[in-house]
Amino acid sequence: MNATPVQDLARPTAAIKGLPADFRWGVATSAYQIEGAAAEDGRTPSIWDTFCRVPGAVEGGEHGDVACDHYHRMPQDVELIAGLGVDTYRFSLAWPRIQPGGRGPANEQGLDFYKRLVDELHGRNITPWITLYHWDLPQELEDAGGWPARDTAYRFADYAALAYDALGDSVEHWTTLNEPWCSAVLGYDAGVHAPGRKDFGDSIRAVHHLLLGHGLASRRIRDAAGDNPLELGITLNLGTATPETDSEADREACRRADGQGRRLYLDPLVHGRYPEDVVADLALRGAELPVQDGDLEIIANPLDVLGVNFYRGALFSGVTESGSPVDDDGLPVTRGVPRDLPRTAMDWEITPTELTDLLLGVQEDYAIPTVITENGAAFDDTVAADGSVPDADRTAYLADHLAAVAEARAQGADVRGYFAWSLMDNFEWAYGYDKRFGIVRVDYDTQVRTLKDSAKWYRDTIGLTREAR
Ligand code: NOJ
Repeated sequence: MNATPVQDLARPTAAIKGLPADFRWGVATSAYQIEGAAAEDGRTPSIWDTFCRVPGAVEGGEHGDVACDHYHRMPQDVELIAGLGVDTYRFSLAWPRIQPGGRGPANEQGLDFYKRLVDELHGRNITPWITLYHWDLPQELEDAGGWPARDTAYRFADYAALAYDALGDSVEHWTTLNEPWCSAVLGYDAGVHAPGRKDFGDSIRAVHHLLLGHGLASRRIRDAAGDNPLELGITLNLGTATPETDSEADREACRRADGQGRRLYLDPLVHGRYPEDVVADLALRGAELPVQDGDLEIIANPLDVLGVNFYRGALFSGVTESGSPVDDDGLPVTRGVPRDLPRTAMDWEITPTELTDLLLGVQEDYAIPTVITENGAAFDDTVAADGSVPDADRTAYLADHLAAVAEARAQGADVRGYFAWSLMDNFEWAYGYDKRFGIVRVDYDTQVRTLKDSAKWYRDTIGLTREAR
């Protein structure tokens, strides 16, 4: 039920053509998902190398040892990016490549890979956009307590300073963390991401230390930047919470979902305080943010840009299916309610208009420039007899979400760019390689890359917006 007919593209394409001349167009990836070369040139294991070895943790027992072999194919991959006509490439640095073990001096061999990548990008007029942390914590730091331990925030700031010292002269765009909600909640509460721990209190301690790490790293980078041009930010995964009915219970469920998914991060980052209602919700579940004097001033270091990763919005109910407002533990119910909407191969509902709502909400509550640092979809692609990949469903997804961005801009949201997730199929974390988010197909047996129809559409659409200028 997921295919949207190709002819439906006329309307979104017309909206997209209205995006401004300085709108930033990109594609995005992350280190562990594409690089491979897990034990080369001094790289040490990250929590994901370890987690992938836990039986049952990742679909099919898959891992990132080889992934897309990008570490060895980087120049060709940059050529591929250039062929898409994008102006920006968002990628992440592997902390255990740059600072093996998470402490001590930089590993020059690890840095050298990223210096070459940045040079290749500049050589093709593509702006590098670096994410410092896309989930690959050095295993030694997890052994010392991981993100629930305060020291990890200081280790992150040291690593950020090393990376900036090496690359800051040639890279202007820096993101500290990618989706700290996932690191904290999926990693330390749900246990479905590395390191696979299941303790709600630890996950909330991790939230605070991730944000503190962001603030400490931001200070170090800003101090080191001097006269270098710098655009510094953080990327959050944000969705929308819509009440199933207008009942107070359902509206409360949305307040809680929005509180722990969005305001718990953006309020301290932008306003320098944690939302009181969320702190109370956490206390009900026995969890507390381990805030020390001065932490909130550090966390609220000014953001030049907020990266928004959007995949879907959700409908919430405040009662169980049998109508109870409390669950078996006596806690208020916050229950996602499935809707009868088209879905991706992740079983995620397709909700483009909710991206418009989200961006308008962020504008209203935080008045901050945004860039969509990720948006895209996994579908079960098929390869046609002629080798092409006719992924009309992914093209429609991208078109509808880009139109939603254009609509948000038209209504006053300061959205400045859009990066498709992902450049190419890659290691989709606990799902392994089965879920394909790329606009470029990767044949994992041969490592051959093939532009899917969505990549051609993206390239042509970027071209159209340039013609329209
Ligand atoms: C967000 C994450 O940043 C990225 O690593 C992941 O592949 C996509 N979501 C799709 O799940």
